[in-house]
Amino acid sequence: MSKHTGTEATKLFYDQLGWKERDGRAVDPYLFGVHEDGPIRIELHEVHLERVRNALSRAGTNLSLLECGCGGNPEQSLLDLCSDYTGVDFSETGLEMAESKLSTAGVPHQLKAADVCNLPFEDGRFDAAYCAHMIYHIAETASQAAAFQEVMRVIKPGGTAVFIVVNPRPLLFPVRLLKRLIADTPFVGQVADKLRPQPPLPYKPMPLRWMQQQLASWGNVEMMTYSLPTTAFNQRTSEYKGIGKQLWKAIRWLDLKYPKSSVYLGNYAQISVCKSK
Ligand SMILES: C[S@@+](CC[C@H](N)C(=O)[O-])C[C@H]1O[C@@H](n2cnc3c(N)ncnc32)[C@H](O)[C@@H]1O
Repeated sequence: MSKHTGTEATKLFYDQLGWKERDGRAVDPYLFGVHEDGPIRIELHEVHLERVRNALSRAGTNLSLLECGCGGNPEQSLLDLCSDYTGVDFSETGLEMAESKLSTAGVPHQLKAADVCNLPFEDGRFDAAYCAHMIYHIAETASQAAAFQEVMRVIKPGGTAVFIVVNPRPLLFPVRLLKRLIADTPFVGQVADKLRPQPPLPYKPMPLRWMQQQLASWGNVEMMTYSLPTTAFNQRTSEYKGIGKQLWKAIRWLDLKYPKSSVYLGNYAQISVCKSK
């Protein structure tokens, strides 16, 4: 069993706030989600979902699917690919919300309270795994590495894992790039950390190359854009007017035309791993 664990502060945030409801909506999507749904965002959301589905489908049909870090937002649009669905999260509040969403889904499911750094499943138990927006909320680098190893361990040879992660060096967003460079510079980062307002939960996006290295020994690793904009850009820039409209058109063009090479430009990446047979 791995000696590494996820981050207690992340669990506390999700138990006490992130998966609580405010105005009929969970706090997590309220804080970090999109507040305007224009046609470009809707189209890109569907494209990104299709990329995830395509990657998972390489593991076959009627998948026994594991979702790690599902919280209160299990990815229900993957359920039609599944013969059975297992969701894991260490937030019990999140799992209660997940249960209420899955109870009418019509796919056999189980939800398990566990730490993804120590998954309570035997090797090769699942056909495929999906893990979105979780890894970068584990504060310790070694624990992030352990989480990657655990997810890969529990899928079968020939199976597929898909991770949605943050790229901390998004070349298209220089302000964010600079902020992350400062945050990741020893000493300077610690000083800057003390001066800036504290984020609501731990946040430690590791470089794409580092994540690729963690996964390379398991099989073929493929990276592509999941979503180019940062959360701040997404929340503040309308696609209906002014310069925002032009920027969104450019983002759409880049994402659709160069899904693989644009991964280094944007903020969220999809990493897919086909586990060697
Ligand atoms: C940002 S939310 C993502 C939820 C969902 N996957 C989505 O995309 O909307 C992160 C989730 O990961 C869970 N999480 C973070 N670290 C974890 C760990 N080490 N073990 C289990 N769950 C973890 C949190 O409790 C939270 O529910």
